[in-house]
Amino acid sequence: MKTSAAGESSAMSVLDYDRTKELKAFDDTKEGVKGLVDAGVVNIPKIFMRPPDELAEKRDCHQNDIKVPVVDMSGVQKGDRHREIVEEVRIASEEWGFFQVVNHGIPSNVLEEMVNGIRVFNEQDPEVKKEYYSRDMMRKVKFNSNYDLFHSRAANWRDTLTISLTSDGLDPQELPAICREATTEYIKHVMKLGDVLFELLSEALGLKPDHLRAMGYTEGSSTMVCHYYPACPEPELTMGTSKHTDPATLTILLQDQIGGLQVFHENQWAEVHPIAGSLVINIGDFLQVMSNGKLKSVYHRVVANHVGPRISTAYFFSGARTEPAKLCGPLKELISEENPPVYRDFLVAEYIGKFMSKGLDDDSGLDYFKL
Ligand code: OGA
Ligand code: NI
Repeated sequence: MKTSAAGESSAMSVLDYDRTKELKAFDDTKEGVKGLVDAGVVNIPKIFMRPPDELAEKRDCHQNDIKVPVVDMSGVQKGDRHREIVEEVRIASEEWGFFQVVNHGIPSNVLEEMVNGIRVFNEQDPEVKKEYYSRDMMRKVKFNSNYDLFHSRAANWRDTLTISLTSDGLDPQELPAICREATTEYIKHVMKLGDVLFELLSEALGLKPDHLRAMGYTEGSSTMVCHYYPACPEPELTMGTSKHTDPATLTILLQDQIGGLQVFHENQWAEVHPIAGSLVINIGDFLQVMSNGKLKSVYHRVVANHVGPRISTAYFFSGARTEPAKLCGPLKELISEENPPVYRDFLVAEYIGKFMSKGLDDDSGLDYFKL
């Protein structure tokens, strides 16, 4: 739990006290945001309200003409096309930190069943769902609303099922029965696609194709978060997911057709328009560090919506699990006299410790690890 910052005014503490009480009452329901919506709230509770300085910011993207790059992966194993794809991935990862992939090889029914699995998990009898409600870091499969509920400035309009995949694998029996098959199948395919993407990214960095994989960044130690964003009665007052960068090397994101994911590009927010059957790929903080700043881990967020639920799942390669102790730093192959390291080496555990003790909306980011 976060302790109050020293020197806080007493008025602030009173506000904090009420807030803490309300947060706890919400958490104790174990029914998440969906529970509020089912109970018929027409005004969002205060704990979800974005702070006034943020409310003043625009939440819509007015620039619909700037488009997140789309990479067609068909022919990825064939000579000429392979080289073109590496180049497209390099440019997208350097300039946007985000791209969508189509013809990536994962059958669309696997994607549809994954989205549906998240839906039925969230829409089942609340009493069954409550058994998974937990904030225990050691639990491999858990459900909660806002992992950072007690650390953030404003809670997000979102509930999440989190699955931690360690190097010793995940026993499918630990997954909720209602979405077990869909999730197991999806994970299998995503891990394979991850291998291909890490190959392309290795080459994009001028390294041998198996460089990143050989470092152990695709196997084990990953985290998958399955989000459920209920329809929101006052979407302009809150957020689905606050702006953040990802605690991972790479993220493979599956979103349904509702929309609302935005990426920060050239000083403005651009919508990542849903494309049926596609996946969204983004560079995470660790790959930005490993590439010595060449590949970009960029801010993104999800706006709340009158329409819902919106469903998505993010698979974080080398996510929150920290054992065995892994060091992260600029790859020595990419460092030279002309290109000195921008970041210091650090333990992934140190980064994750910092990440978990702050709110998603506290954007201290990677600056802490800069040299
Ligand atoms: C995340 C994330 C976006 C989405 O989980 O890190 O950015 O569309 N999710 O849910
Ligand atoms: Ni993210």
